Amino acid sequence: MTTVDWLWVLHPALAVVLVYPLIGMTIRLGVQTRSRRVDKAKLPASTGRDHADLGSWLAAAVVGIVLVALTVVIATKAAPGSFEGGPTRALTLLLVVMGTVVSLVALWRVRARAYRLCFALLTWIGVLGLGAQPEVYRVSDNPLSTEFWTSHYWAGVAVVGLMLFSLGARPEILREPRLRRLHVSASVLAAVLFTLQGITGSRDLLTIPLSWQKTFLGACNWSEMRCPPPPRAPALPGSP
Ligand code: HEM
Ligand code: HEM
Repeated sequence: MTTVDWLWVLHPALAVVLVYPLIGMTIRLGVQTRSRRVDKAKLPASTGRDHADLGSWLAAAVVGIVLVALTVVIATKAAPGSFEGGPTRALTLLLVVMGTVVSLVALWRVRARAYRLCFALLTWIGVLGLGAQPEVYRVSDNPLSTEFWTSHYWAGVAVVGLMLFSLGARPEILREPRLRRLHVSASVLAAVLFTLQGITGSRDLLTIPLSWQKTFLGACNWSEMRCPPPPRAPALPGSP
């Protein structure tokens, strides 16, 4: 494995080691929060707060690993010398990554409702802007095609949007029953999308070749599942 291959492993590794355990803990505490409120289950008073605290970390971690994936995909598609658009585009994209991180930090800190809405949208726009770059493999951009619904990218940015909604609306979820119901529906959808991400992500990991294999595998016909015969090894002296 070369350095580039290790960079591609960074996002799946962070998802498995950091994000999925957080998802499990957040869901468990969410279910307990509901049983405590609805069924009056005897659970610690801190359950709701613990769920929301872990949920906030989960939302930030999901945005973080998606930014890692998008940065790696865009930066390593071509050799640094032949980066499409040259240093000007590279610098602009770097500013977008930094701006997205700054607006995520701001979303975490601000209190006023208008600011939370603003920074949640800005963070999502940053992610979508990076995802719209030609280097990013989105499978299909047409929601009417079957391929679109198998896209790791589109489900990924959708779940980022759902997490940003919960993070941005945290005080309202706590106070307003209507938003609490909306949060539960959004989170059930998020849980389904997280499951899909685990499946499509593992599929992608299996189909992306190692950097040194790319030239050979690029000549394969993927729809017919055929590759050109491997180049013949030079005959050894003395062999027939
Ligand atoms: C997969 C992720 C998530 C799931 C499945 C989930 C599920 C739930 C459930 C079932 C409840 C209880 C609702 C009720 O009492 O009827 C809840 C409450 C809540 N959730 Fe989440 N949630 C998730 C992520 C998040 C995130 C990312 C945040 C953002 C900070 C968040 C913030 C809250 C808050 C503030 C409450 C109210 C807590 C309380 O009553 O003390 N959740 N969630
Ligand atoms: C929290 C769940 C996850 C989210 C939100 C997510 C989201 C994304 C996004 C938006 C991309 C960039 C677009 C693309 O290249 O397809 C990406 C890339 C990728 N994801 Fe995920 N993903 C998640 C989990 C996983 C898991 C569990 C795996 C594998 C075990 C995985 C494997 C990959 C691979 C191989 C890539 C290609 C780029 C790279 O490795 O950096 N993802 N993901």
